[in-house]
Amino acid sequence: MTEIDQTEEWTALANHWAEVKPLQMRDLFQQSPERAEQMSIRQCGILLDYSKNRITSRSMNLLLELAQAVDVDGWRRRMFSGERLNITENRAVLHVALRNRSNHPIWYDGEDVMPGINTVLKQMEAFSGAVRSGEWTGYTGKPISDVVNIGIGGSNLGPLMVCEALKPYQKADLRMHFVSNVDATHILETLRPLDPETTLFIIASKTFTTQETLTNAYTARNWLLQKLGDEKAVARHFVAVSTNGERVSQFGIDTENMFEFWDWVGGRYSLWSAIGLPIAIAIGMDSFYELLQGAHEMDQHFLHADLSENMPVIMALLGIWYVDFANAGTHAILPYDQYLRYLPDYLQQADMESNGKRVTRFGRPVDYPTGPVIWGTAGTDGQHAYYQLIHQGTQLIPCDFIIPVNSHNESGDHHEKLFANCLAQSEALMRGKTRVEAREEMVASGMDPDHIVDLLHHRIFPGNRPSNTLLVDKITPSRLGSLIALYEHKIFIQGVIWRVNSFDQWGVELGKQLASVILPELKEERQTTNHDSSTSGLITYFHRHRKG
Ligand code: F6P
Repeated sequence: MTEIDQTEEWTALANHWAEVKPLQMRDLFQQSPERAEQMSIRQCGILLDYSKNRITSRSMNLLLELAQAVDVDGWRRRMFSGERLNITENRAVLHVALRNRSNHPIWYDGEDVMPGINTVLKQMEAFSGAVRSGEWTGYTGKPISDVVNIGIGGSNLGPLMVCEALKPYQKADLRMHFVSNVDATHILETLRPLDPETTLFIIASKTFTTQETLTNAYTARNWLLQKLGDEKAVARHFVAVSTNGERVSQFGIDTENMFEFWDWVGGRYSLWSAIGLPIAIAIGMDSFYELLQGAHEMDQHFLHADLSENMPVIMALLGIWYVDFANAGTHAILPYDQYLRYLPDYLQQADMESNGKRVTRFGRPVDYPTGPVIWGTAGTDGQHAYYQLIHQGTQLIPCDFIIPVNSHNESGDHHEKLFANCLAQSEALMRGKTRVEAREEMVASGMDPDHIVDLLHHRIFPGNRPSNTLLVDKITPSRLGSLIALYEHKIFIQGVIWRVNSFDQWGVELGKQLASVILPELKEERQTTNHDSSTSGLITYFHRHRKG
C-alpha cells in the first residue's frame, strides 16, 4: 500500500499549501462576503464556523479528496459495524454502541452487544437512584453525602470533566470528588473533610491493575476501616467499575456491587459506559440518558452526512492541514465556559493517547507528523497569560474557541462580556493589525514620532492565525454529549488518515515497567547499578536525603 504522504492527494495538498501560505484571511473575507455562511455547519445544537481558517474552497476540495482516498466512508461504517479496528489488541471499538439509543442490534463476535449494555444501564439506574434518594445507606444506616471516584486516565478524566460541565444539573446535597494521582496528598486532602459513615467510593479501573488506582483504593479502604472498624462495612461503601471481576473480588468488593464493561470500550472512550456511574449519581439517570442521546445524534450525523458537510470530518481535515502541511505542532482548546474547564485535559488524553503514534497500523515508521500537542484552559484567563504567544509568537497555533450562547449563570452583563472576549480573540487572530493600522493608531493617540518608530514593530500583529469557533446553544447533557462525540470522531478520522491505530496506547507501558523496577530499589535501598548514571544518582540522592 502506498504510504499516505506518497499519494497524489497528499502531494496536491503540499503544493496547494505553497499557494495558500501567502494569502491573508482578512482579504479572503473581503473578497467573499458569503465565506462565513459557506464555511459553517450547524448540527446537534452546535454551530461550527470554520471560516477563520487558512483555506480556500479549493483547499477543502483537496482535503476531501484525501478523505476519499483513505476511504473515510468505509472506515466510519466499519467502526459502527463492530469490526476489530484496534488490531494491535485485536478488539473492536464500540463506544458508539454504548450510546446507541435507537437500540438496533450491533453485532460483535456473533452476539448482539445491546442487551448487555442495557442490563448495565438498568443496574446503573437502580444504583444511582438508590444513592440519590437515600435508600442506599452506609454501614451505619446514614444516607450517602459524598461520592469519591478513584480512577485515572479514562477512568477519571471523562467523569470528572462531565460532572464539572453539568454541575448545574447536580443534586445539591451530594458532593462528587475525584482522586487520581498516586501522590498521597490527593487522596488524603480529599478524605480529610469527609465522614466515612456517609462516603461512597467508586473504584473505577478497566483492568483493575493500575498502580495509582489500587494504591488509592487501599488507602481509602484503610481509612474507612479505621473509622468504622468492621470489614463488613466495605460492601456498603465500595463499588467497582471494571472489566476484571476476578481482581475486583480479590480487592474485597462483592461482584454484586460491580458494574461491568467490555474490552471493546477503550479507556479514553469509556465515559458512556459504567465508568459514567459518578455522572449518573451526580446528575441522575435521566440526564445521563440525555448525554448518551446527544452523543448518539452526533454519531448518526457522523455516520450518514456527506463528508463535505460532516462536522467531525471537516474538523479532522483542518487539523491535518495544519499539522502536516503548515507545520503546526500544537492545537489549543479554548472553552469560554467555566464549567468546561476540564475539557482541555479530557481532550488531551482523548487525542494524544489516540494519535500520539509513530508507526502505521502495519508497524511502519511514519514519515510525517501525526497527533499534535493538545492544550488550553477555560475562559478569559488564558488571554492574560499565554495568548501573547498565540498572537505574536513564532509558532502557528490553530485554536478551537468553544462557547455557549446561553449561560447557566446569567448575571448582569457577564455573559455578553465573555462572549465579546471570545469573538474578539478569534477576530484579532484572524485580522491582526498591519503596520499602517498600528502607526495610525499611535499617531491618533498623540504619541511623539520617535516613540512611534521605537514601538511600531512591537505593535504589529501578523494575524492570519487560524481558529474554529463552536457555538453551543447551552451546555445541557445532550449538547455536551454531542460535543464530546464530535471530538471523538474527529480524532478517529485523523487516525485513519495518518494510518495509525488510534485505539491502543503502548507508549505508556515502558514508564510503568521501569517504575516497577525502581520502586523496590527506593523501598529497600538496593544497589542501583543497572541504571544510567543519572537515574542511579537520583535514586542515591533520594536515599541520602529521605527522612525517617
Ligand atoms: O496508562 C494509560 C491507561 O491505560 C489509559 O489508557 C487508561 O485510561 C488508564 O491507563 C486507566 O486504566 P484503567 O482503567 O485500566 O485503570
